[in-house]
Amino acid sequence: MSPQTDNPSVLFSSFTQGHLQLTNRVVLPPMCQWEAGDDGYPTAYHFAHYGSRAVGGVGMQILEATAVEARGRISPNDLGIWTDQQGETLAKLADCIKDLGSVPAMQLGHSGNKARPGTGRAVGPVGEAFSDRYEAPEELTAEGIDQVTEAFAEGARRASKAGFKALELHAAHGYLLHQFLSPIMNTRKDQFGGSTENRLRFPLEVIRRCRERISDSTTLMIRVSGSEYSERGYQMDEMIEMGQAFRDAGVEIIHVSSGGALPVAPPVYPGYQLELSRQLRQGTGLPTIAVGRLETPELAEFALREGYCDLVAVGRALMRDPNWAVGAALTLGDVPPVSDNLNKLFMPKT
Ligand SMILES: Cc1cc2nc3c(=O)[nH]c(=O)nc-3n(C[C@H](O)[C@H](O)[C@H](O)COP(=O)(O)O)c2cc1C
Repeated sequence: MSPQTDNPSVLFSSFTQGHLQLTNRVVLPPMCQWEAGDDGYPTAYHFAHYGSRAVGGVGMQILEATAVEARGRISPNDLGIWTDQQGETLAKLADCIKDLGSVPAMQLGHSGNKARPGTGRAVGPVGEAFSDRYEAPEELTAEGIDQVTEAFAEGARRASKAGFKALELHAAHGYLLHQFLSPIMNTRKDQFGGSTENRLRFPLEVIRRCRERISDSTTLMIRVSGSEYSERGYQMDEMIEMGQAFRDAGVEIIHVSSGGALPVAPPVYPGYQLELSRQLRQGTGLPTIAVGRLETPELAEFALREGYCDLVAVGRALMRDPNWAVGAALTLGDVPPVSDNLNKLFMPKT
C-alpha cells in the first residue's frame, strides 16, 4: 500500500487527503518552544522559527501544543488559544507560514495533570499526581469534562477561523486526552473510566464538537501514543479500535507517537515508532504521520515506500537545520522544495 508516484522520491511527492493538499510529505511535528509570553501570545521568535522552516520547504508545519485553557498549558510559556484575541494574533502566524509556501496546522493541547508550576490548578481524570515532580490535580467532574470539551471546541473554532488548515488533537504523551484513554492513568469508576467505550467517551465528544465547530475545509487530525510500553496499558488491538472510533467521529489523519503514560522513557532508535504507525494505518485505513528519529532522507523514503506511513515528521533534525528538506531532496535525487530563486542560491556555482 505504498503511495503511487512518478516523482523521483515519494518524500517530495504531493499528498492530498480531503481538503488538505501538501506539496511534499515532510512535516514539522509539534514542538514546544517555551517562547510565548506568559499570556500565551506568539512572539517574534515564532515568526522566525516557523517562517524559516517554511522557507526551507517543509510541506506542513504543526504548531507546538497550543493550550485551549490557561490551566491546560504544560509550561507558562506555551502558546494559547483560549481567547478570540489570541486566535486573531495566531492568524498572522498562519498567514506568515502560508505566504512563505508551507501549510499551517496547529496542535490543540491540554496538559491535564502534567502541568508545571505557574500554569494554574491542574485537572485530571483522577486526583493523583503524575509523579513526585507534579502537584496532585483536581479530579474533573462530569460538568468539568464538559467545560474542557467546550474549551477544545472553541480553540478549534478559533484556529480554523485563523486559517490553520489542519488541527491536531493532542491525545499522546500522557496529556489530558491520553490520560482519559489510558487504563494506567484513568482509574475512574464512572461513565468516563473502565471499559474502552467509557475511556473513549470524553475524547470522542471532543472530536465531534471540534468537527461541528470548524469549517468543512479544515482537516482534523489526532496524535496518539501507539504504545504505552506496559502490560497495564492499552495494547495495539485496543489502540486500533480507538483509532477506528476516532475515524468514525471525524478524524482524517493519525499521527503516531508513543509513551508518556508512565514516567519512564521508551527505547529510542531511528524509526522506533514506525511499526506502530504501520499497524494503525492498516487497522484504520487512515493516512498516518510517522515520527521518531526519522532524520535521514533514506529512512524517511523507506518508511513511505514500504507503507509504514503517508507523511514523515522530522522534529529535532529540523530544529538543528531549518533547511533539512533541501538537503534531503538533493540526497534523494529530487528537486529541492523551495522557490527557483532560492534554489539557485542553494546550488553551488559551476
Ligand atoms: C523540544 C521538544 C518539544 C516537544 N513538544 C511537543 C509538543 O508540543 N507536542 C507533542 O505532541 N510532542 C512534542 N514533542 C515531541 C516531538 O513532536 C517528536 O515526536 C519527537 O521529538 C520525536 O521526533 P524526532 O526524533 O524527529 O525529534 C517535543 C519534542 C521536543 C524535542
